[in-house]
Amino acid sequence: MAPKIIVLGSTGYIGSATVKTLAQQKANITAGVRDPSKAQELVNAGAKVIKADMGLKQTELASILANYDHLYVVTPGHIDRTNLTLNAIKAAKQANIKYILVVSIPPADNLNILFGRQFTPIEKELKSSGLTYGLLRLPMFVDNIWGNAEAIKTQNTFYGPIDGSKKFVTVAVQDAALAAAVILQNPTNHANKTYTLTSDFSSSDEQAQFYTQALGRTIKYVSGGYEATKQALLKFMPEWQVDGILELYKLVENQDASQTTFTNDFKKITGQEPTTHAKWMQQFSKAF
Ligand SMILES: NC(=O)c1ccc[n+]([C@@H]2O[C@H](COP(=O)([O-])OP(=O)(O)OC[C@H]3O[C@@H](n4cnc5c(N)ncnc54)[C@H](OP(=O)(O)O)[C@@H]3O)[C@@H](O)[C@H]2O)c1
Repeated sequence: MAPKIIVLGSTGYIGSATVKTLAQQKANITAGVRDPSKAQELVNAGAKVIKADMGLKQTELASILANYDHLYVVTPGHIDRTNLTLNAIKAAKQANIKYILVVSIPPADNLNILFGRQFTPIEKELKSSGLTYGLLRLPMFVDNIWGNAEAIKTQNTFYGPIDGSKKFVTVAVQDAALAAAVILQNPTNHANKTYTLTSDFSSSDEQAQFYTQALGRTIKYVSGGYEATKQALLKFMPEWQVDGILELYKLVENQDASQTTFTNDFKKITGQEPTTHAKWMQQFSKAF
């Protein structure tokens, strides 16, 4: 029988793409969301939707999780994400979940940055939980270019804080979703593995060339520096998160291994070629 899978944190980029991929593949998939009325899209995709908040009391969350075999915890982009995710891991343990997959980041061990300090305890708890687990370390998303869609449409330009020549790894959300869907349906070969999913390794200047080819008009990258990027990002997210993202860009600038190590993990898991920036922009060209 197909395993019963639940995804917590299902309405964001990663969670919704994973739930939709699993629904397309006819898996037995339930999306656990805080507010089911905001999850109609997941119902339309063919998933069951239930109310399940990572912030529930551990025993309450455990009684929900006890109905499932495999769990995906999409660590939320929330200031308290360490405690929310630790709570979900402990509840999974209490519920005797057979396999748990958790979202992390490549610099999860780097205590010099905020995101590292948030993810170190998560990875530690998971590894010592006694649960059969998997970690998906995700670098910056290829899809973050959505944040520059208006600038590309109106100015043929996208912006960032760093020098355009610095290369860094990125992952396409659809690749992260496909890899998670494969693992969650049959985790046998993935027990206690930490994967770093990468779809591309390119500089912003190279990405500008890919976008130019895909869109058939010249697209430029402009480095606006850290302060201008901070002000732009503050329109979309809280300051702690903006500062955390800028720390990641500093790692890129310093060519830290967490931002420059391209892995074959996506292909190993799925057997498919990853979605490069070039492929991604061809796919979504109409929106740009
Ligand atoms: N953008 C990037 O480049 C990038 C790169 C690597 C990693 N990440 C990280 O990857 C993770 C997933 O990213 P994402 O963009 O898909 O999702 P997201 O929007 O940051 O958050 C995922 C889910 O977290 C849940 N959530 C938020 N606050 C919560 C709370 N107080 N209690 C319980 N659940 C809460 C929401 O679930 P419901 O509303 O469904 O309950 C949301 O769907 C995040 O931690 C993000 O920071 C991002």
